[in-house]
This record gives sequence, C-alpha cells and structure tokens, in this order.
Amino acid sequence: MSNNIVIAIDGYSSCGKSTLAKALAQKLHFIYIDSGAMYRAVTLYFLRERVNLHDNNAIAQALKNIHLNFNSRDYQSHITLNDEEVSEEIRQMPVSDNVSAVAAIKEVRHEMVRQQQRMGRSKNIVMDGRDIGTTVFPDAQLKIFMTADPKVRAERRYKELSLKNPGITLEDVFENIAHRDYQDTTREESPLVRAKDAIILDNTNLSPDEQLQFALDKLSDLLEP
Ligand code: CDP
Repeated sequence: MSNNIVIAIDGYSSCGKSTLAKALAQKLHFIYIDSGAMYRAVTLYFLRERVNLHDNNAIAQALKNIHLNFNSRDYQSHITLNDEEVSEEIRQMPVSDNVSAVAAIKEVRHEMVRQQQRMGRSKNIVMDGRDIGTTVFPDAQLKIFMTADPKVRAERRYKELSLKNPGITLEDVFENIAHRDYQDTTREESPLVRAKDAIILDNTNLSPDEQLQFALDKLSDLLEP
C-alpha cells in the first residue's frame, strides 16, 4: 500500500479552486494537477479539428491523438497539447463556452480519469476539478468542496480575463459560469456533487491567505488527530 497524500478540491466554476490548490502545493511541496486544464485542452483540440461531439469513432480517434503534459515544477498549471504550450488559449471564451459539453462525454471522462489516477499514483498531490473526491480519488485524505457567491465568482473571473480581453463583459462571464455550473451538475457521467466526506469551504468573504490557512488546519487535524 502506498502512503502518499492526496488532496482533492472540487467545486463550482471560478470559485478559486486553483488558487487554493496552487498555494497548498507550493506550501507543502506537493505536485499540483489542474484537471480542468485537461478538459480544456481536449476541448481546444476538438474545436481545432472540428470533432463531431456525436461521433463516437471520431472522439475515440481524437483521444488517441491527444497527448497532454504538465510542467509541474512551477506549481502553476502549464499544460502542453501535443507539445504545444496552450495554457493561455484554453482560458479563452471559445474553450470556456464548449468545455462542459466536451467534459460530459463518457469516453473523454474515462480517458482523463485514467490519466489523472496514473499521475496521482504514489505521489503527494493536490488536484482540483469537479469529480476528484467522488470519482478520481475517492480515498483522498483531504477533500474540500468549494463554493462562493455566483456574483463574486463572476467578478473575480472577469477581473482576470479582462486584463487580456478588453472586449469581454461581466455579463458574458456570469452567463458562462452559470451555464457551466448547470451542465456540470446535471450531466449523467460523474456530475459535480459534494463527496459525503468533503469539507465545505465558502470563500465569498475569505482572502487567499485565509482559505489557505483553513485548508492547512483541516489537513493537520486529519493527519495528527
Ligand atoms: O477554472 P474554472 O472553474 O473555470 O474551470 P476548470 O476547472 O478550468 O474546468 C473547466 C470545465 O472542465 C468545467 O466547467 C467542467 O465542465 C470540466 N471539468 C470536469 O468536468 N471535471 C473536472 N475534474 C474538471 C473540469
């Protein structure tokens, strides 16, 4: 039996999961894996190659042609798609508008979950996403389910995106977040749901440092009861 530690962070769109996950990984010297970046990179490939989301053969073939890699040394989520750095492009609206439909496809999820489980084998990791505590690592030592007021989430994401996309509006971002939450919670295959043993963290009124401290306290309670 391996005794590596897995921290699973799940929750709604744009509620600060990756901020917390990166900070925890850096503090604890764990590997950070942004599972959302994987679904985003697959979506980018599907968009570029015009893969028909209803054609199972085309999907299976596309998945075989997709090779994803993280540069895990910097505690960020730099991801390559077939050796091309796509970290910026996968955050843009065309991908955000399509990612939840792609992430609802069973074959896509099976392949991503398989890769995620392999990355977490025998390493200390922090992984964030939607199904990490329920499906990918149901035995994770610490599970956090994050949420925040939808308006606050949209404002935070708008601030990030508008720096590089002057044309974007707060309404676009709000709608995208609401739509993805709807698709992610209602899909058939491993929908976004709180694992029974996940601790809820509502960070509407918390600073990044406060949420980090919250998670570190929970982890030390669990590891040294
Ligand atoms: O950072 P943000 O909250 O915008 O989302 P993300 O973590 O980058 O994930 C993008 C999308 O990928 C989500 O809206 C989900 O549709 C999908 N996803 C998923 O289905 N399962 C995961 N483990 C992670 C992401």
